[in-house]
Amino acid sequence: MLWHRLSCLLVAAVVASATQFPLVHSSVKAQNVPGVGFAADQYDAGLFTPLGDLSALSTDEFTTLSHPLFPNYNVRIKKSEFCDGTVGTYTGYIDIQARHLFFYFFESRSDPATDDVIFWTNGGPGCSSSLGLFMELGPCRVTSPDNATFNPYSWNEKANIFFVDQPIGVGFSYAEYGETVSTTPEAAKDIAAFVAIFFEHFSQFKGRAFHMAGESYGGRYIPVFAAEVYDQNAKLVEAGLTPVNLSSIMIGNGCTDWATMVPSYYDMTCSPASVAPIMDISSCVRMKRTVPRCQEALQKSCVDAYDSFGCSAANLFCSAEIIEPFFDSGYNPYDISRLCDGPISDTLCYPVTKAIGAYLDRPDVRKQIGVDAFVTANFSSCNNEVNAAFHAADDQMFPTQFYIGALLERGVRALIYVGANDWICNWVGNDRMLHDLEWTGQEAFVKEPLKEWTVDGTAAGLTRSAGSLTFATIYGAGHMVPYDKPAESLKLTKRWLANKEL
Ligand SMILES: *[C@@H]1O[C@H](CO)[C@@H](O)[C@H](O)[C@H]1NC(C)=O
Ligand SMILES: *[C@@H]1O[C@H](CO)[C@@H](O)[C@H](O)[C@H]1NC(C)=O
Ligand SMILES: *[C@@H]1O[C@H](CO)[C@@H](O)[C@H](O)[C@H]1NC(C)=O
Repeated sequence: MLWHRLSCLLVAAVVASATQFPLVHSSVKAQNVPGVGFAADQYDAGLFTPLGDLSALSTDEFTTLSHPLFPNYNVRIKKSEFCDGTVGTYTGYIDIQARHLFFYFFESRSDPATDDVIFWTNGGPGCSSSLGLFMELGPCRVTSPDNATFNPYSWNEKANIFFVDQPIGVGFSYAEYGETVSTTPEAAKDIAAFVAIFFEHFSQFKGRAFHMAGESYGGRYIPVFAAEVYDQNAKLVEAGLTPVNLSSIMIGNGCTDWATMVPSYYDMTCSPASVAPIMDISSCVRMKRTVPRCQEALQKSCVDAYDSFGCSAANLFCSAEIIEPFFDSGYNPYDISRLCDGPISDTLCYPVTKAIGAYLDRPDVRKQIGVDAFVTANFSSCNNEVNAAFHAADDQMFPTQFYIGALLERGVRALIYVGANDWICNWVGNDRMLHDLEWTGQEAFVKEPLKEWTVDGTAAGLTRSAGSLTFATIYGAGHMVPYDKPAESLKLTKRWLANKEL
Protein backbone atom coordinates (compact mmCIF):
# COMPACT_ATOMS: atom_id res chain seq x y z
CA MET A 1 0.00 0.00 0.00
CA LEU A 2 1.43 3.39 -0.91
CA TRP A 3 0.64 5.14 2.21
CA HIS A 4 -1.73 8.04 2.49
CA ARG A 5 0.63 9.91 4.78
CA LEU A 6 2.55 10.60 1.62
CA SER A 7 0.92 13.92 1.03
CA CYS A 8 1.37 15.22 4.57
CA LEU A 9 4.84 13.79 4.83
CA LEU A 10 5.95 15.30 1.57
CA VAL A 11 5.30 18.61 3.24
CA ALA A 12 7.20 17.57 6.36
CA ALA A 13 10.02 16.28 4.19
CA VAL A 14 10.44 19.65 2.53
CA VAL A 15 11.24 21.28 5.82
CA ALA A 16 13.39 18.41 6.99
CA SER A 17 15.46 17.99 3.88
CA ALA A 18 16.05 21.68 3.42
CA THR A 19 17.32 22.12 6.93
CA GLN A 20 18.61 18.92 8.45
CA PHE A 21 19.33 16.39 5.77
CA PRO A 22 20.47 18.22 2.67
CA LEU A 23 22.82 15.43 1.63
CA VAL A 24 20.87 12.33 2.56
CA HIS A 25 19.85 10.83 -0.72
CA SER A 26 21.66 7.66 -1.63
CA SER A 27 22.38 4.47 0.22
CA VAL A 28 24.94 5.80 2.59
CA LYS A 29 23.55 4.53 5.85
CA ALA A 30 24.54 0.90 5.32
CA GLN A 31 28.09 2.04 5.94
CA ASN A 32 27.13 2.67 9.55
CA VAL A 33 26.68 -1.04 10.02
CA PRO A 34 30.13 -2.49 10.34
CA GLY A 35 31.09 -5.02 7.69
CA VAL A 36 27.69 -5.68 6.11
CA GLY A 37 27.93 -7.71 2.96
CA PHE A 38 29.98 -10.13 1.04
CA ALA A 39 33.11 -11.95 2.10
CA ALA A 40 34.15 -13.63 -1.14
CA ASP A 41 37.82 -13.13 -0.23
CA GLN A 42 37.74 -15.24 2.90
CA TYR A 43 35.12 -17.67 1.66
CA ASP A 44 35.96 -21.36 1.79
CA ALA A 45 33.24 -23.58 0.30
CA GLY A 46 34.41 -26.50 2.46
CA LEU A 47 33.19 -24.77 5.60
CA PHE A 48 29.56 -24.87 4.62
CA THR A 49 26.97 -27.61 5.14
CA PRO A 50 23.49 -26.82 3.86
CA LEU A 51 20.58 -27.61 6.14
CA GLY A 52 18.84 -29.42 3.29
CA ASP A 53 15.20 -29.97 4.04
CA LEU A 54 12.69 -27.53 5.53
CA SER A 55 10.61 -30.33 7.02
CA ALA A 56 13.51 -31.13 9.37
CA LEU A 57 12.87 -27.88 11.25
CA SER A 58 11.45 -27.71 14.77
CA THR A 59 8.06 -26.23 15.68
CA ASP A 60 9.19 -25.05 19.09
CA GLU A 61 12.44 -23.34 18.43
CA PHE A 62 14.37 -21.59 15.73
CA THR A 63 17.13 -23.23 13.73
CA THR A 64 19.86 -20.75 12.82
CA LEU A 65 21.30 -20.79 9.31
CA SER A 66 24.50 -19.02 8.40
CA HIS A 67 26.77 -18.95 5.41
CA PRO A 68 30.49 -18.11 5.31
CA LEU A 69 29.96 -15.88 2.30
CA PHE A 70 27.65 -13.66 4.39
CA PRO A 71 29.45 -13.43 7.73
CA ASN A 72 27.15 -10.74 9.13
CA TYR A 73 23.87 -12.49 8.29
CA ASN A 74 21.99 -15.34 9.96
CA VAL A 75 18.56 -16.71 9.17
CA ARG A 76 16.47 -18.12 12.03
CA ILE A 77 13.57 -20.32 10.94
CA LYS A 78 10.98 -22.59 12.55
CA LYS A 79 7.91 -24.56 11.56
CA SER A 80 4.72 -22.62 12.40
CA GLU A 81 1.61 -24.54 11.53
CA PHE A 82 -1.03 -21.90 11.02
CA CYS A 83 -3.07 -19.98 8.43
CA ASP A 84 -3.05 -22.64 5.69
CA GLY A 85 -3.36 -25.99 7.43
CA THR A 86 -2.62 -28.02 4.31
CA VAL A 87 1.03 -27.12 3.59
CA GLY A 88 4.37 -26.68 5.31
CA THR A 89 4.47 -23.24 6.94
CA TYR A 90 7.55 -21.55 8.33
CA THR A 91 8.37 -18.23 9.97
CA GLY A 92 11.54 -16.60 11.16
CA TYR A 93 13.98 -13.76 11.15
CA ILE A 94 16.80 -12.62 8.94
CA ASP A 95 19.36 -11.38 11.50
CA ILE A 96 21.82 -8.74 10.40
CA GLN A 97 23.74 -8.34 13.63
CA ALA A 98 21.36 -6.22 15.75
CA ARG A 99 18.77 -5.79 12.99
CA HIS A 100 16.06 -8.38 12.46
CA LEU A 101 13.68 -8.86 9.51
CA PHE A 102 10.60 -11.04 10.02
CA PHE A 103 9.28 -13.37 7.33
CA TYR A 104 6.59 -15.99 6.64
CA PHE A 105 7.06 -18.84 4.16
CA PHE A 106 4.28 -21.05 2.83
CA GLU A 107 4.84 -24.06 0.63
CA SER A 108 2.79 -24.57 -2.50
CA ARG A 109 -0.55 -26.39 -2.33
CA SER A 110 0.24 -28.09 -5.64
CA ASP A 111 3.78 -29.42 -5.78
CA PRO A 112 6.25 -27.70 -3.47
CA ALA A 113 9.03 -29.86 -4.89
CA THR A 114 8.74 -28.37 -8.38
CA ASP A 115 6.65 -25.19 -8.14
CA ASP A 116 8.25 -21.76 -8.45
CA VAL A 117 9.21 -19.56 -5.49
CA ILE A 118 7.69 -16.07 -5.04
CA PHE A 119 9.03 -13.31 -2.79
CA TRP A 120 6.33 -10.81 -1.76
CA THR A 121 6.57 -7.40 -0.14
CA ASN A 122 3.99 -4.72 0.52
CA GLY A 123 4.85 -1.06 0.11
CA GLY A 124 4.35 2.09 2.10
CA PRO A 125 7.24 2.66 2.47
CA GLY A 126 6.80 1.31 5.97
CA CYS A 127 3.79 -1.02 5.60
CA SER A 128 3.81 -4.65 6.69
CA SER A 129 3.57 -7.58 4.28
CA SER A 130 1.06 -9.13 6.66
CA LEU A 131 -1.49 -6.87 4.90
CA GLY A 132 -0.73 -8.76 1.68
CA LEU A 133 -0.76 -12.05 3.53
CA PHE A 134 -3.99 -11.70 5.54
CA MET A 135 -5.96 -9.36 3.28
CA GLU A 136 -4.88 -10.25 -0.24
CA LEU A 137 -2.93 -13.20 -1.64
CA GLY A 138 -2.05 -15.29 1.42
CA PRO A 139 -3.35 -18.73 2.42
CA CYS A 140 -5.81 -17.30 4.94
CA ARG A 141 -7.92 -14.17 5.26
CA VAL A 142 -8.20 -12.55 8.68
CA THR A 143 -11.59 -10.91 9.08
CA SER A 144 -11.78 -10.62 12.87
CA PRO A 145 -9.26 -11.08 15.68
CA ASP A 146 -10.34 -14.69 16.12
CA ASN A 147 -11.09 -15.69 12.58
CA ALA A 148 -8.48 -16.69 10.01
CA THR A 149 -10.33 -18.30 7.09
CA PHE A 150 -8.78 -20.55 4.42
CA ASN A 151 -8.32 -18.58 1.18
CA PRO A 152 -8.90 -20.79 -1.88
CA TYR A 153 -7.43 -18.07 -4.13
CA SER A 154 -4.09 -17.81 -2.37
CA TRP A 155 -1.09 -17.59 -4.67
CA ASN A 156 0.39 -20.61 -2.91
CA GLU A 157 -2.15 -22.62 -4.92
CA LYS A 158 0.69 -22.82 -7.45
CA ALA A 159 3.85 -21.41 -5.81
CA ASN A 160 6.00 -21.46 -2.69
CA ILE A 161 5.75 -17.97 -1.27
CA PHE A 162 7.54 -15.61 1.15
CA PHE A 163 6.05 -12.57 2.87
CA VAL A 164 8.73 -10.30 4.35
CA ASP A 165 8.27 -7.40 6.78
CA GLN A 166 10.84 -4.99 5.45
CA PRO A 167 12.74 -2.76 5.87
CA ILE A 168 13.78 -2.78 9.56
CA GLY A 169 11.08 -1.22 11.74
CA VAL A 170 8.14 -2.60 9.74
CA GLY A 171 5.67 -5.12 11.17
CA PHE A 172 7.57 -7.55 13.43
CA SER A 173 10.95 -6.45 12.09
CA TYR A 174 13.07 -4.40 14.45
CA ALA A 175 16.50 -3.10 15.37
CA GLU A 176 17.88 -3.51 18.87
CA TYR A 177 19.58 -0.11 18.92
CA GLY A 178 17.11 1.85 16.85
CA GLU A 179 19.04 1.66 13.58
CA THR A 180 16.94 2.65 10.59
CA VAL A 181 16.92 2.10 6.84
CA SER A 182 15.79 5.01 4.72
CA THR A 183 16.51 4.08 1.11
CA THR A 184 15.54 1.25 -1.20
CA PRO A 185 19.12 0.39 -2.31
CA GLU A 186 20.03 -0.05 1.34
CA ALA A 187 17.02 -2.31 1.98
CA ALA A 188 17.97 -4.32 -1.13
CA LYS A 189 21.26 -5.52 0.36
CA ASP A 190 19.49 -7.31 3.22
CA ILE A 191 16.95 -8.90 0.91
CA ALA A 192 19.58 -10.16 -1.55
CA ALA A 193 21.64 -11.71 1.25
CA PHE A 194 18.55 -13.40 2.65
CA VAL A 195 17.61 -14.83 -0.75
CA ALA A 196 21.12 -16.23 -1.27
CA ILE A 197 21.26 -17.82 2.19
CA PHE A 198 17.83 -19.38 1.77
CA PHE A 199 18.58 -21.04 -1.56
CA GLU A 200 22.00 -22.23 -0.39
CA HIS A 201 20.58 -23.91 2.70
CA PHE A 202 17.45 -25.44 1.27
CA SER A 203 18.85 -27.41 -1.63
CA GLN A 204 15.34 -28.60 -2.53
CA PHE A 205 14.71 -25.08 -3.94
CA LYS A 206 18.09 -24.55 -5.59
CA GLY A 207 17.84 -23.33 -9.19
CA ARG A 208 14.04 -23.08 -8.88
CA ALA A 209 12.40 -20.29 -10.90
CA PHE A 210 12.22 -17.27 -8.58
CA HIS A 211 9.83 -14.32 -8.89
CA MET A 212 10.09 -11.10 -6.94
CA ALA A 213 6.69 -9.53 -6.40
CA GLY A 214 5.34 -6.48 -4.62
CA GLU A 215 2.67 -3.86 -4.55
CA SER A 216 2.47 -0.08 -4.43
CA TYR A 217 5.82 1.21 -3.15
CA GLY A 218 6.90 -2.27 -4.27
CA GLY A 219 7.05 -0.58 -7.67
CA ARG A 220 10.19 1.06 -6.30
CA TYR A 221 11.40 -1.83 -4.12
CA ILE A 222 11.06 -4.77 -6.47
CA PRO A 223 13.07 -3.55 -9.49
CA VAL A 224 15.92 -2.54 -7.15
CA PHE A 225 15.75 -5.76 -5.09
CA ALA A 226 15.69 -7.90 -8.24
CA ALA A 227 18.64 -6.00 -9.69
CA GLU A 228 20.57 -6.60 -6.46
CA VAL A 229 19.79 -10.34 -6.64
CA TYR A 230 20.78 -10.40 -10.31
CA ASP A 231 24.08 -8.60 -9.75
CA GLN A 232 24.81 -10.71 -6.69
CA ASN A 233 24.62 -13.82 -8.89
CA ALA A 234 27.91 -12.95 -10.55
CA LYS A 235 29.55 -12.99 -7.12
CA LEU A 236 27.83 -16.24 -6.15
CA VAL A 237 29.15 -17.88 -9.32
CA GLU A 238 32.63 -16.49 -8.65
CA ALA A 239 32.50 -18.10 -5.22
CA GLY A 240 31.47 -21.45 -6.73
CA LEU A 241 27.80 -21.28 -5.70
CA THR A 242 24.57 -21.77 -7.65
CA PRO A 243 23.09 -18.49 -8.93
CA VAL A 244 19.54 -17.60 -7.93
CA ASN A 245 17.24 -18.37 -10.89
CA LEU A 246 15.59 -14.93 -11.02
CA SER A 247 12.86 -15.42 -13.63
CA SER A 248 10.58 -12.45 -13.27
CA ILE A 249 9.38 -9.43 -11.38
CA MET A 250 5.67 -8.88 -10.71
CA ILE A 251 4.48 -5.43 -9.68
CA GLY A 252 0.90 -4.78 -8.60
CA ASN A 253 -0.30 -1.15 -8.62
CA GLY A 254 3.27 0.07 -8.44
CA CYS A 255 4.52 3.59 -8.00
CA THR A 256 7.70 3.19 -10.00
CA ASP A 257 8.24 6.59 -11.57
CA TRP A 258 6.90 9.41 -9.44
CA ALA A 259 7.46 12.02 -12.15
CA THR A 260 4.98 10.32 -14.51
CA MET A 261 2.62 9.18 -11.74
CA VAL A 262 1.85 12.62 -10.27
CA PRO A 263 0.45 14.14 -13.51
CA SER A 264 -1.76 11.05 -13.97
CA TYR A 265 -3.76 12.07 -10.90
CA TYR A 266 -5.40 14.63 -13.14
CA ASP A 267 -6.52 11.93 -15.60
CA MET A 268 -7.86 9.72 -12.84
CA THR A 269 -9.98 12.39 -11.20
CA CYS A 270 -10.96 14.59 -14.13
CA SER A 271 -11.35 12.21 -17.08
CA PRO A 272 -13.28 8.96 -17.44
CA ALA A 273 -10.02 6.93 -17.35
CA SER A 274 -11.65 4.49 -14.92
CA VAL A 275 -14.82 6.02 -13.49
CA ALA A 276 -16.70 9.20 -14.42
CA PRO A 277 -14.84 12.38 -13.34
CA ILE A 278 -15.20 12.82 -9.59
CA MET A 279 -14.01 16.44 -9.24
CA ASP A 280 -15.91 19.61 -10.11
CA ILE A 281 -15.02 21.42 -13.31
CA SER A 282 -13.39 24.45 -11.72
CA SER A 283 -11.03 22.27 -9.64
CA CYS A 284 -10.21 20.23 -12.72
CA VAL A 285 -9.38 23.29 -14.77
CA ARG A 286 -7.13 24.60 -12.04
CA MET A 287 -5.40 21.21 -11.81
CA LYS A 288 -5.04 20.94 -15.56
CA ARG A 289 -3.16 24.24 -15.62
CA THR A 290 -0.76 23.20 -12.84
CA VAL A 291 0.15 19.79 -14.30
CA PRO A 292 2.77 21.10 -16.78
CA ARG A 293 4.40 23.26 -14.10
CA CYS A 294 4.49 20.36 -11.67
CA GLN A 295 5.91 18.02 -14.32
CA GLU A 296 8.55 20.49 -15.40
CA ALA A 297 9.66 21.20 -11.84
CA LEU A 298 9.89 17.50 -10.95
CA GLN A 299 11.84 16.76 -14.11
CA LYS A 300 14.26 19.63 -13.58
CA SER A 301 14.98 19.30 -9.86
CA CYS A 302 14.35 15.64 -9.08
CA VAL A 303 15.16 13.71 -12.27
CA ASP A 304 17.49 15.48 -14.72
CA ALA A 305 19.58 16.62 -11.79
CA TYR A 306 18.99 16.08 -8.12
CA ASP A 307 18.65 19.30 -6.20
CA SER A 308 17.29 18.53 -2.76
CA PHE A 309 15.81 21.95 -2.11
CA GLY A 310 14.32 22.32 -5.61
CA CYS A 311 12.96 18.78 -5.56
CA SER A 312 11.27 19.33 -2.22
CA ALA A 313 9.79 22.59 -3.45
CA ALA A 314 8.50 20.84 -6.59
CA ASN A 315 6.90 18.12 -4.48
CA LEU A 316 5.32 20.70 -2.22
CA PHE A 317 3.78 22.46 -5.22
CA CYS A 318 2.54 19.24 -6.87
CA SER A 319 1.20 17.99 -3.58
CA ALA A 320 -0.74 21.16 -2.81
CA GLU A 321 -2.22 21.49 -6.32
CA ILE A 322 -2.73 17.89 -7.42
CA ILE A 323 -2.66 15.56 -4.39
CA GLU A 324 -4.27 17.47 -1.52
CA PRO A 325 -7.48 18.30 -3.46
CA PHE A 326 -8.06 14.59 -3.93
CA PHE A 327 -7.59 13.81 -0.23
CA ASP A 328 -10.06 16.57 0.59
CA SER A 329 -12.67 14.87 -1.62
CA GLY A 330 -13.28 12.00 0.82
CA TYR A 331 -12.80 9.37 -1.89
CA ASN A 332 -10.76 6.26 -1.21
CA PRO A 333 -7.29 6.89 -2.73
CA TYR A 334 -6.93 3.15 -3.25
CA ASP A 335 -10.27 2.82 -5.03
CA ILE A 336 -11.93 5.86 -6.58
CA SER A 337 -15.16 3.98 -7.17
CA ARG A 338 -15.97 4.43 -3.47
CA LEU A 339 -15.56 6.74 -0.49
CA CYS A 340 -12.96 6.06 2.16
CA ASP A 341 -14.25 3.72 4.88
CA GLY A 342 -12.19 5.74 7.29
CA PRO A 343 -10.76 7.61 9.11
CA ILE A 344 -7.92 6.89 6.74
CA SER A 345 -5.27 7.45 9.42
CA ASP A 346 -6.86 4.66 11.45
CA THR A 347 -7.98 2.08 8.90
CA LEU A 348 -6.25 2.96 5.60
CA CYS A 349 -9.91 3.08 4.35
CA TYR A 350 -10.23 -0.70 5.04
CA PRO A 351 -11.50 -1.48 8.58
CA VAL A 352 -10.29 -5.06 8.14
CA THR A 353 -6.74 -3.76 8.73
CA LYS A 354 -7.77 -3.21 12.36
CA ALA A 355 -8.86 -6.84 12.66
CA ILE A 356 -5.52 -7.98 11.25
CA GLY A 357 -3.70 -5.84 13.81
CA ALA A 358 -5.78 -7.28 16.65
CA TYR A 359 -5.15 -10.83 15.39
CA LEU A 360 -1.39 -10.19 15.34
CA ASP A 361 -1.58 -8.77 18.87
CA ARG A 362 -2.86 -12.08 20.23
CA PRO A 363 -0.13 -13.52 22.49
CA ASP A 364 -0.85 -17.07 21.24
CA VAL A 365 -0.45 -16.01 17.60
CA ARG A 366 2.81 -14.21 18.35
CA LYS A 367 4.08 -17.27 20.19
CA GLN A 368 3.07 -19.63 17.41
CA ILE A 369 4.89 -17.66 14.72
CA GLY A 370 7.88 -16.90 16.96
CA VAL A 371 7.77 -13.11 17.24
CA ASP A 372 10.79 -12.09 19.35
CA ALA A 373 10.04 -10.94 22.91
CA PHE A 374 11.82 -7.69 22.04
CA VAL A 375 8.72 -6.70 20.05
CA THR A 376 6.28 -5.52 22.72
CA ALA A 377 4.40 -2.75 20.93
CA ASN A 378 0.98 -3.35 19.42
CA PHE A 379 1.05 -4.29 15.77
CA SER A 380 0.98 -1.36 13.39
CA SER A 381 0.05 -1.83 9.71
CA CYS A 382 2.43 0.93 8.67
CA ASN A 383 5.36 2.52 10.46
CA ASN A 384 5.36 6.30 10.56
CA GLU A 385 9.07 6.78 11.14
CA VAL A 386 10.14 4.50 8.31
CA ASN A 387 7.77 6.31 5.98
CA ALA A 388 9.10 9.71 7.04
CA ALA A 389 12.74 8.60 6.72
CA PHE A 390 12.21 7.43 3.12
CA HIS A 391 10.52 10.70 2.25
CA ALA A 392 13.24 12.74 3.94
CA ALA A 393 15.74 10.89 1.72
CA ASP A 394 13.55 11.56 -1.39
CA ASP A 395 13.78 7.83 -2.08
CA GLN A 396 10.59 7.90 -4.17
CA MET A 397 12.10 10.35 -6.65
CA PHE A 398 14.52 7.87 -8.21
CA PRO A 399 13.41 6.91 -11.76
CA THR A 400 13.17 3.21 -10.91
CA GLN A 401 11.97 2.18 -14.36
CA PHE A 402 15.64 2.17 -15.41
CA TYR A 403 16.04 -0.99 -13.32
CA ILE A 404 13.07 -2.59 -15.09
CA GLY A 405 14.63 -1.81 -18.48
CA ALA A 406 17.94 -3.29 -17.35
CA LEU A 407 16.28 -6.47 -16.06
CA LEU A 408 14.29 -6.89 -19.30
CA GLU A 409 17.54 -6.61 -21.29
CA ARG A 410 18.91 -9.51 -19.24
CA GLY A 411 15.99 -11.85 -19.86
CA VAL A 412 14.14 -11.27 -16.59
CA ARG A 413 10.41 -11.06 -17.42
CA ALA A 414 8.30 -8.22 -15.99
CA LEU A 415 4.56 -8.18 -15.24
CA ILE A 416 3.08 -4.80 -14.40
CA TYR A 417 -0.56 -5.29 -13.33
CA VAL A 418 -2.87 -2.56 -12.07
CA GLY A 419 -6.33 -2.61 -10.51
CA ALA A 420 -8.15 -0.12 -12.74
CA ASN A 421 -9.89 1.82 -9.94
CA ASP A 422 -6.77 2.69 -7.96
CA TRP A 423 -5.92 6.36 -7.78
CA ILE A 424 -2.64 6.44 -5.86
CA CYS A 425 -0.52 4.21 -8.15
CA ASN A 426 -2.92 4.13 -11.07
CA TRP A 427 -2.97 2.41 -14.44
CA VAL A 428 -2.64 5.65 -16.46
CA GLY A 429 0.67 6.51 -14.80
CA ASN A 430 1.94 2.93 -15.18
CA ASP A 431 0.87 2.84 -18.83
CA ARG A 432 2.79 6.07 -19.51
CA MET A 433 5.84 4.86 -17.62
CA LEU A 434 5.99 1.67 -19.72
CA HIS A 435 5.31 3.55 -22.94
CA ASP A 436 8.43 5.65 -22.31
CA LEU A 437 10.53 2.76 -21.01
CA GLU A 438 13.65 2.35 -23.11
CA TRP A 439 14.67 -1.23 -23.91
CA THR A 440 15.14 -3.26 -27.09
CA GLY A 441 11.48 -4.34 -27.09
CA GLN A 442 10.12 -0.81 -26.66
CA GLU A 443 8.98 -0.31 -30.24
CA ALA A 444 7.17 -3.65 -30.41
CA PHE A 445 5.57 -3.05 -27.01
CA VAL A 446 4.32 0.44 -27.84
CA LYS A 447 2.87 -0.73 -31.18
CA GLU A 448 0.86 -3.46 -29.49
CA PRO A 449 -2.77 -2.36 -28.92
CA LEU A 450 -4.44 -2.88 -25.55
CA LYS A 451 -6.78 -5.87 -25.78
CA GLU A 452 -9.06 -7.59 -23.31
CA TRP A 453 -7.97 -10.63 -21.32
CA THR A 454 -10.61 -12.94 -19.93
CA VAL A 455 -11.34 -15.32 -17.07
CA ASP A 456 -13.91 -18.02 -17.81
CA GLY A 457 -15.06 -16.11 -20.87
CA THR A 458 -15.62 -12.82 -19.00
CA ALA A 459 -13.47 -9.75 -19.67
CA ALA A 460 -11.13 -9.29 -16.68
CA GLY A 461 -9.11 -6.27 -17.88
CA LEU A 462 -6.88 -4.93 -20.61
CA THR A 463 -3.42 -6.15 -21.56
CA ARG A 464 -0.51 -5.37 -23.83
CA SER A 465 2.58 -7.51 -24.14
CA ALA A 466 5.79 -7.75 -26.15
CA GLY A 467 8.75 -9.99 -25.52
CA SER A 468 9.29 -10.34 -21.80
CA LEU A 469 7.15 -7.33 -20.76
CA THR A 470 3.44 -7.57 -19.96
CA PHE A 471 1.08 -4.85 -18.79
CA ALA A 472 -2.40 -5.70 -17.51
CA THR A 473 -5.28 -3.92 -15.86
CA ILE A 474 -7.93 -5.61 -13.73
CA TYR A 475 -11.46 -4.27 -14.03
CA GLY A 476 -13.30 -3.53 -10.81
CA ALA A 477 -10.19 -3.78 -8.62
CA GLY A 478 -8.54 -1.05 -6.60
CA HIS A 479 -5.00 -0.84 -5.23
CA MET A 480 -5.08 -4.31 -3.69
CA VAL A 481 -6.05 -6.50 -6.60
CA PRO A 482 -6.19 -9.88 -4.82
CA TYR A 483 -8.46 -8.34 -2.15
CA ASP A 484 -11.01 -7.09 -4.69
CA LYS A 485 -10.65 -9.72 -7.41
CA PRO A 486 -9.18 -12.87 -5.87
CA ALA A 487 -10.13 -15.30 -8.67
CA GLU A 488 -8.85 -13.01 -11.44
CA SER A 489 -5.67 -12.30 -9.48
CA LEU A 490 -4.90 -15.99 -9.07
CA LYS A 491 -5.60 -16.70 -12.76
CA LEU A 492 -3.30 -13.86 -13.76
CA THR A 493 -0.55 -15.17 -11.48
CA LYS A 494 -0.87 -18.77 -12.65
CA ARG A 495 -0.71 -17.77 -16.31
CA TRP A 496 2.30 -15.56 -15.63
CA LEU A 497 4.17 -18.28 -13.71
CA ALA A 498 3.46 -20.75 -16.53
CA ASN A 499 4.81 -18.17 -19.02
CA LYS A 500 1.51 -18.25 -20.93
CA GLU A 501 -0.25 -15.35 -22.59
CA LEU A 502 -2.77 -13.74 -20.29
C1 LIG B 1 -14.98 -16.22 9.59
O1 LIG B 1 -14.94 -15.41 8.41
C2 LIG B 1 -15.57 -16.01 7.29
C3 LIG B 1 -15.31 -15.14 6.08
O2 LIG B 1 -15.61 -13.81 6.35
C4 LIG B 1 -17.04 -16.21 7.58
O3 LIG B 1 -17.67 -16.83 6.49
C5 LIG B 1 -17.19 -17.09 8.83
O4 LIG B 1 -18.52 -17.19 9.19
C6 LIG B 1 -16.39 -16.50 9.99
N1 LIG B 1 -16.39 -17.45 11.10
C7 LIG B 1 -16.55 -17.07 12.36
C8 LIG B 1 -16.49 -18.17 13.37
O5 LIG B 1 -16.74 -15.91 12.68
C1 LIG C 1 15.22 -21.41 -14.22
O1 LIG C 1 13.82 -21.33 -14.33
C2 LIG C 1 13.33 -21.51 -15.62
C3 LIG C 1 11.84 -21.25 -15.59
O2 LIG C 1 11.63 -19.87 -15.47
C4 LIG C 1 13.66 -22.90 -16.10
O3 LIG C 1 13.19 -23.07 -17.42
C5 LIG C 1 15.18 -23.09 -16.05
O4 LIG C 1 15.49 -24.42 -16.38
C6 LIG C 1 15.72 -22.76 -14.67
N1 LIG C 1 17.17 -22.73 -14.74
C7 LIG C 1 17.94 -23.50 -13.98
C8 LIG C 1 19.41 -23.30 -14.15
O5 LIG C 1 17.52 -24.32 -13.20
C1 LIG D 1 -2.52 -2.09 22.58
O1 LIG D 1 -3.84 -2.43 22.24
C2 LIG D 1 -4.68 -2.66 23.36
C3 LIG D 1 -6.02 -3.20 22.85
O2 LIG D 1 -6.50 -2.43 21.81
C4 LIG D 1 -4.82 -1.37 24.16
O3 LIG D 1 -5.61 -1.57 25.28
C5 LIG D 1 -3.42 -0.93 24.58
O4 LIG D 1 -3.49 0.33 25.22
C6 LIG D 1 -2.48 -0.81 23.41
N1 LIG D 1 -1.13 -0.59 23.88
C7 LIG D 1 -0.38 0.39 23.43
C8 LIG D 1 1.00 0.46 24.03
O5 LIG D 1 -0.74 1.19 22.60
